[in-house]
Amino acid sequence: MAEVHLIDHPLVQHKLTLMRRKDASTNSFRRLANEIATLMTYEVLRDVPMQEIEIETPMEVTTGRVIDGKKLVFVSILRAGTGILDGMLTVVPGARVGHIGLYRDPKMLVAVEYYFKMPGDLHERDVVVVDPMLATGNSAVAAVDRLKECGPKSIKFVCLLTCPEGIAVLHKAHPDVPIYTAAIDRQLDEQGYILPGLGDAGDRIFGTK
Ligand code: URA
Repeated sequence: MAEVHLIDHPLVQHKLTLMRRKDASTNSFRRLANEIATLMTYEVLRDVPMQEIEIETPMEVTTGRVIDGKKLVFVSILRAGTGILDGMLTVVPGARVGHIGLYRDPKMLVAVEYYFKMPGDLHERDVVVVDPMLATGNSAVAAVDRLKECGPKSIKFVCLLTCPEGIAVLHKAHPDVPIYTAAIDRQLDEQGYILPGLGDAGDRIFGTK
C-alpha cells in the first residue's frame, strides 16, 4: 500500500489557513495555492533520481548532482490543477507538462475525459499528477487509469487538500500511487465537496463565481 504524505510544515499550514477563509480574494487565493505547491514540491521530489555531472568551480574541476528536470512530467488535471502548476514549475522549470481534461458529471459525480495531451516517451519519465482537491477520488482514479496506459516509470499524486473518502478511493484503485497533501479534512458532503474544505478550488483560483 502506498503512503499518504501529510506535509504539515508550518509555512504550508499557515498559507492553507489563509486560503480557506471565505473572504480571501481571488488574487490571494491563487498566489497562496501556488506558494503552497512550491513548498510541497520540495517534499514530493525528495526521492527524485539524480545524476552526477562534472563541473568547474572557480577553483577546480569537481562533480555535482543534478536533477534531470526533463524526465519529470507534471500532469495537471484541468482546470484546477493549472492553479498549482506554476508553483511547481517555479522550482523545476525544466519539467515537462501534460494536461488531462476531466469534468465531474454533476449527477453521478463520475469523471468524464474531454482532453489528454502528454509529452512523448512517457515510459522514460516520472509523473506527478496535480489537482488541488482529492475529493471523491473519481477524477484522480480516471487520470491515473489513463496515464498508466502510457506506462510511465512512476506516478505520484499531489493535492492541497483531501479527505478520508478520496484517499480510500484512490488507494483502492491504485495502491502503488503515493499521495502528497497539505491536509486531510473531515469528510465529503453529499455534493462531493470537502468539509471544512475551501469551497470550489477552480472557481476560487479563476474567480469564476
Ligand atoms: N473540488 C473542489 O474544488 N472542492 C471540493 O471541496 C471538492 C472538489
